[in-house]
Amino acid sequence: MAKMWDARFSKAENSRVNDFNSSISFDSRMFREDIEGSVAHATMLGRCGIIDRSEADKIIEALGQIRADIESGALPIDPEAEDIHMFVEEVLTARIGDTGKRLHTARSRNDQVALDIRLYLRREMEAIRELLTGLLSAIAEKAEENVHTVMAGYTHLQRAQPVTFAHYILAYARMFLRDLSRLDQTKARMNVCPLGSGALASTTYPIDRHMTAALLGFDGPMENSIDGVSDRDSLLELAFDLSVVMMHLSRFSEEMILWCSSEFGFIELDDAFSTGSSIMPQKKNPDIAELVRGKTGRVYGDLTTLLTMMKGLPLAYNKDMQEDKEAIFDAIDNAKICIELFTSMLATATVRAERLRKAASGGFINATDCADYLVKKGMPFRDAYKISGRLVAYCIDTGTDFESLPLETYKEYSPLFENDVYDAVNLENCVNGRLAYGGPSEKSVRHQIELLKTCLANA
Ligand code: ARG
Repeated sequence: MAKMWDARFSKAENSRVNDFNSSISFDSRMFREDIEGSVAHATMLGRCGIIDRSEADKIIEALGQIRADIESGALPIDPEAEDIHMFVEEVLTARIGDTGKRLHTARSRNDQVALDIRLYLRREMEAIRELLTGLLSAIAEKAEENVHTVMAGYTHLQRAQPVTFAHYILAYARMFLRDLSRLDQTKARMNVCPLGSGALASTTYPIDRHMTAALLGFDGPMENSIDGVSDRDSLLELAFDLSVVMMHLSRFSEEMILWCSSEFGFIELDDAFSTGSSIMPQKKNPDIAELVRGKTGRVYGDLTTLLTMMKGLPLAYNKDMQEDKEAIFDAIDNAKICIELFTSMLATATVRAERLRKAASGGFINATDCADYLVKKGMPFRDAYKISGRLVAYCIDTGTDFESLPLETYKEYSPLFENDVYDAVNLENCVNGRLAYGGPSEKSVRHQIELLKTCLANA
């Protein structure tokens, strides 16, 4: 295909160079945004009298047709085109002749691509938002079913203190709620319009940047035309936001992987979200959770690609920046599929309350409560802590636990022990006694669920 810049060049491009230079294979996914930006630009050119209104209308109508034809498949994307911007313009000119050649007045591909990517990210962020709220709803539902499901909370992966499954997974809800607000903040900073920055120094035509910004739903135009074409902060921010989402998902996945092992047996994954083995007939593997954990590294890689790509670039546009798209698209595609599948996997998993309760009983997770019991009877905490520790050692030696230890044995360790110690070390009481704000008691957990639901209703 003849190049736009043939006039200045005396030789055709080397075919390998053409392939190397081309971004059409990955930027064609922005065809809607490219056309949306061009429609706004043409509208403004017409209204400002830079081109005839009738020509602007003709361009806008033809652009609408091009979009419809790409969507229907009637207009295949030409893999030989340099990028989506050139492709759309070339088709436009082929279809409406000289009028089509007026579209690029007062515009450069540099502000065009900066605009397209913002429009694209803005739309994708809406989709990611929806996926995250879907995940949060799934967590809320599972939490509601498990307000009374007692389990051990862990530190160092050692059984530590009693909580409930609801309280446990609501911790993840708080993480994903922060992820949502991070996305919103990124979007708020991103929502300014680079169009009209031109190649870097704006233009001599009497364009109206406020008009195009408003037409495209931006809060306003970017303030500096050089920044307008040089800035890729919003891609970096989104890649970071998605990296954090993935980190949260990956931790949750790691727990699911452990929990569905026979050793834990805390959950059972639905068959539809598990895989078998080609050799071991008994296997049921948590591949989805493992892939989410695995893809987390890949999204971090995308963030690193973007940061590294940008760090040495002088202002303004440099072709290096074409590399931004594959990285951010990869991060978006993978984060989206991971959130979606993780949500379905969680929603369809069975929580094995009796296994959780059994594991909670075996680890002396009421040792702190035993100490607290003595403190409530007047003993200083450090002394009580020691006595409870000795009782743990005794129980380990004799193969018993706090719940079944006879009162005489308790009394050998402290005369303060009375019959009510059994209430104090009862795991359900241990959980519900933790009434402090944000704790695992039923009251606190119900409050957390209400808060989550309010956030979701306003999301
Ligand atoms: N395909 C290019 C990109 O993605 C579009 C901008 C090209 N601008 C230029 N001056 N070569 O970055």
